[in-house]
Amino acid sequence: MELNNTITRSEETGETSRPAPTKKVFIKTYGCQMNVYDSQRMTDALTTDGYAQTEAIEDADLILFNTCHIRERAAEKVYSELGRLNKLKAERASNGREMLVGVTGCVAQAEGNEILRRSPVVDLVVGPQTYHRLPQVVKKARAGEKIVETEYAIEDKFEHLPKLEKAAVRSRGVTAFLTVQEGCDKFCTFCVVPYTRGSEVSRPVSQIVAEAERLTEAGVREITLLGQNVNAWHGEGPDGKEWGLAQLLYRLAEVPGLARLRYTTSHPRDMDVDLIAAHRDLASLMPYLHLPVQSGSDRILKAMNRKHTADEYLRLIERIREARLDIAMSGDFIVGFPGETDEDFEATMRLIREVNYAQAFSFKYSQRPGTPGADMKFQVEEHVKDERLQQLQALLMQQQHAFTASRIGMEMNALIEKPGRKPGQIVGRSPWLQPVIIDENVAQIGDIIKVRIMSAGPNSLYAEPA
Ligand code: SAH
Ligand code: SF4
Ligand code: F3S
Repeated sequence: MELNNTITRSEETGETSRPAPTKKVFIKTYGCQMNVYDSQRMTDALTTDGYAQTEAIEDADLILFNTCHIRERAAEKVYSELGRLNKLKAERASNGREMLVGVTGCVAQAEGNEILRRSPVVDLVVGPQTYHRLPQVVKKARAGEKIVETEYAIEDKFEHLPKLEKAAVRSRGVTAFLTVQEGCDKFCTFCVVPYTRGSEVSRPVSQIVAEAERLTEAGVREITLLGQNVNAWHGEGPDGKEWGLAQLLYRLAEVPGLARLRYTTSHPRDMDVDLIAAHRDLASLMPYLHLPVQSGSDRILKAMNRKHTADEYLRLIERIREARLDIAMSGDFIVGFPGETDEDFEATMRLIREVNYAQAFSFKYSQRPGTPGADMKFQVEEHVKDERLQQLQALLMQQQHAFTASRIGMEMNALIEKPGRKPGQIVGRSPWLQPVIIDENVAQIGDIIKVRIMSAGPNSLYAEPA
């Protein structure tokens, strides 16, 4: 199906005109940036199909929950939210106005039919690999069918991306996310992603470059390349050679108007020499790297199937810091993986002290059905997980505040993103992802200006033009 046949694009503004929308869609997004990006694309596809986006759930003809299955709590939240729609749907039925409810994302993929069984309010279930079929699925659901669309052929995998790409180019401010890779072949024993997102697939270079050019033409200055294992991205370059993420970054650095590049999330095993060198060579590659390690204990790392030791991770970070002195590290941690002892946990605390993170995310281990970890012996008691998480987060918080405070007195570039809350104020972004608040209206949105940091909050920086 052609999605863009009714769209015309104005050369000056990048704005689109399309037939007047007759219905409204509300999308609520859970989980990671992949879902944020997918929600945007689903909105694009559906607006092309005559749906206008609404922020008011009571006002919607189509309600979509784009869900996350990563931890138990994330998945359960969806069911309780669905439960709350029963009343609204009954009201609608009584006054004859349509209301369709759909579940997309990773819970859709993992639980499929089970969702219809648990939540009769749901009309359609669509997994991440089949979003290109969403408009047809909605049509069928409007005709009264209940549909579960989670089966896909491997060739389908990136089908939804090029198809939806033809939908309108819309400016999403001065920063944008661009998916370059999907899926995961790593099979960490705690994780559902390889099951919900399927195996690793990389988008071709030409598509990525074209989309980056389109985004920058629409005013985007900073692009974050996205993938579950973004540094596993590979593809054939225009030179006929096999490219990795490093070569892709060098190419994207040449896109006119594109001032800043980032990528997330990476796996330590896919940080190769070329990628480390790119951090040294490319000024537009921002000095901030999210490189999850999960644990500092070799025993636990092995049980998690991470395929590297704590020492290998530390040496990797050393090499990255040699290449780019001012790089700030971010990570993910899990406490209470099955079999984790006090000593294992201490090893994680030691690793954190050694790395000194600018930011990090940490979670209590959550047993996920279908993953090897769920069946492992020696599950850790909840109160132990709670205590460990508290300790670990206190340390990470301390490091984060110290990092923010260490920016005081520095001169740095800020990319101006939006007006501030107070009149005359503008808000930018530091190279290390911190919001930078400037009290004078000295620049336009999209400008990159030099500022001096005068003070710092827990995460924000307060600056004057330098
Ligand atoms: N592909 C990325 C991110 C995966 S999900 C990576 O490999 O790092 C994001 C984070 O959620 C993980 O890094 C991990 O810290 C956490 N996570 C995943 N499964 C989990 C589980 N079963 N319980 C608790 N945390 C989990
Ligand atoms: Fe999950 Fe591991 Fe794959 Fe990351 S690398 S998505 S944690 S299986
Ligand atoms: Fe969640 Fe799926 Fe992302 S499980 S973290 S939404 S890939």
